[in-house]
Amino acid sequence: MQSFSQDLTSRKVDAELSQLLQALAQISAQISHDVRRGALAGILGATESENVQGETQKKLDVIANDLIKDGLAKLDLVKGIASEEEDDVVALNPNGRFLVSFDPLDGSSNIDINSLVGTIFSILPAPEGELTQDSFLQPGRQQLAAGYVLYGPSSLMAISTGKGTQLYTLDPISGDFLLIDDAMQIPATTQEFAINMSNQRFWEPAMQNYIADLLKGDTGVRGKNFNMRWIAAMVGDVHRVLSRGGIFTYPTDTKNPAKPYKLRLMYEANPMALLVEQAGGLASTGYQDILDIQPEGIHQRVAVVLGSRDEVTECLKYHG
Ligand code: F6P
Ligand code: MN
Repeated sequence: MQSFSQDLTSRKVDAELSQLLQALAQISAQISHDVRRGALAGILGATESENVQGETQKKLDVIANDLIKDGLAKLDLVKGIASEEEDDVVALNPNGRFLVSFDPLDGSSNIDINSLVGTIFSILPAPEGELTQDSFLQPGRQQLAAGYVLYGPSSLMAISTGKGTQLYTLDPISGDFLLIDDAMQIPATTQEFAINMSNQRFWEPAMQNYIADLLKGDTGVRGKNFNMRWIAAMVGDVHRVLSRGGIFTYPTDTKNPAKPYKLRLMYEANPMALLVEQAGGLASTGYQDILDIQPEGIHQRVAVVLGSRDEVTECLKYHG
């Protein structure tokens, strides 16, 4: 099996981008090690602080955030970072070519139940001039690379540098990621959907109608039965969709009018949209391709519908 670094070389990925991706892989291997040690590494439970989005920070949120921030600060390549767990952007090296935005620990409500969590990251070109939040406000199509690391029964890393989506598995003994799929392909059709059904009454009519038709199964207009899955960690749900197809959505809802969307554009939706598109799938808000959104703030949230091409297209028809 090819190692991650060998694979990046054979793909002719820019040498500095490759160095940055290898650093992120190494840091993730460290996070994976801590996740695996669980209570022994003191990673379980909550801190006493909240992040900028008003969510209680878990210990592992903070540990993973600091590992990534400190790890990237050691490179000359990164001008600044934006993290779900940092109020503001953090300047690193003024001469760095890259910006990195990341969700250090996605699915943190799963930590204490020993279920799936992961790290999601997105790499953008750094504009000239002083680093501000505006430096990061580039549509997802500008991403030079995106990826996630899923800390599951095995740790897996999916990466795209815009030439397909590749999957690697972590060898916990050597700490290397090894290539196991050089072109992930999401099947175009599916009979599996992922949505938090408890929000049903708060969705827009378009989503209510779409899901109602899935639930009618072979007695309704879709003429086939659907199965449902919900991992409560986007990284786990998206990994399933990349592995065997499906549709994943966290739509807009009116449950909390101050917070009509759940997922973050810069840390979650954009990187996942690149990975999904590069594997032949679609990623939309219901009304627009995620990757075409002009971001307005680093912590901005959006509606997300992604996965198997034909199924997402079907869902979009309900949105008109
Ligand atoms: O990061 C936000 C997140 O944890 C996602 O990973 C996940 O898909 C979603 O929220 C889970 O939401 P809920 O708590 O509504 O199930
Ligand atoms: Mn998250």
